[in-house]
Amino acid sequence: MTDEVADAATPAPPPPSDDVAPAEIVRFHGVSKVFGTGPAAKVAVADVSFVVHDLAGMGELIAIVGPSGCGKSTLLRILAGLPPHFPPTSGAVTVFGKPVTGPGADRGVVDQKYSLLPHLTVLDNVSFGLMLRGVSKADRHAQAKGWIQRIGLEGSERKYPGELSGGMQQRVAIAATLILCPRIILMDEPFGALDPKIRLHMQELLVQLWREQQATVFFVTHSVEEALYLGDRVYRMSARPGRLVEQVEAPRPDEPPEVMRKRPWFVEMTHDLLQRLEEDLPNGSSRDSPAPALEG
Ligand SMILES: Nc1ncnc2c1ncn2[C@@H]1O[C@H](COP(=O)(O)OP(=O)(O)O)[C@@H](O)[C@H]1O
Ligand SMILES: [Mg+2]
Repeated sequence: MTDEVADAATPAPPPPSDDVAPAEIVRFHGVSKVFGTGPAAKVAVADVSFVVHDLAGMGELIAIVGPSGCGKSTLLRILAGLPPHFPPTSGAVTVFGKPVTGPGADRGVVDQKYSLLPHLTVLDNVSFGLMLRGVSKADRHAQAKGWIQRIGLEGSERKYPGELSGGMQQRVAIAATLILCPRIILMDEPFGALDPKIRLHMQELLVQLWREQQATVFFVTHSVEEALYLGDRVYRMSARPGRLVEQVEAPRPDEPPEVMRKRPWFVEMTHDLLQRLEEDLPNGSSRDSPAPALEG
């Protein structure tokens, strides 16, 4: 576990410059964010460093867990280039090797609140981004219909967000983001407001869509089970100040969540990570149980 903490706390050395080195997707180097000044200053994230590489074009899903207020949203929004979290107070953020200067087409964001336009139909919400890109009406509606089918909302094309349940609205929001094919998808507790059964269904759907797109996903969640199910890797953050303290590797979600979450190894991994999260330990060590095995 010590090695993982070192991974989280110190930047990886630059990849060797031969062509077998995997491309760098995201790099945080010593990133801190302080809100306010003087005695009212509040450190939202402190000295966060990590590197995510392109795994042979597969796209990794990084799940981020941590206590409320530990800086998860701040970290995500810095990566998205969204003020007031962006720019960071210090440190560097690069995407595909270039410094982040603001939002970009290479990054798509899905929030907990279903950021849909209430006066537009499902079809127009899903095709909105393509419209902004100047795609013709026929073309964008054709693409949007394909996405509406994939998210299981065929027949709801002409409905307005207000006529849909929370789960349906979030599916529309996800489709509206994925239709733009961002290489990096940033999701901030996207299923946080959904009831448990719908949430499992959404997890399965997300895995499906993400596999098709092979994007790199950063997924913030309160749920350790959700993080371990969806994540190839789980980043655990600690509060006061918000730091990245641990990285845990998790198996790929190759079976439905309700099946995988009953496996003994999964139960154990969840229990161990939850314990470290609840104790909010400043590093990857656990007081009385060994760290979960990461390989194999
Ligand atoms: N716009 C803001 N202005 C001032 N403080 C903020 C702002 N956004 C977040 N913070 C503070 O930064 C810390 C981290 O917040 P946040 O990233 O939202 O945490 P999380 O998403 O993990 O709950 C909190 O203490 C929060 O109060
Ligand atoms: Mg948050």
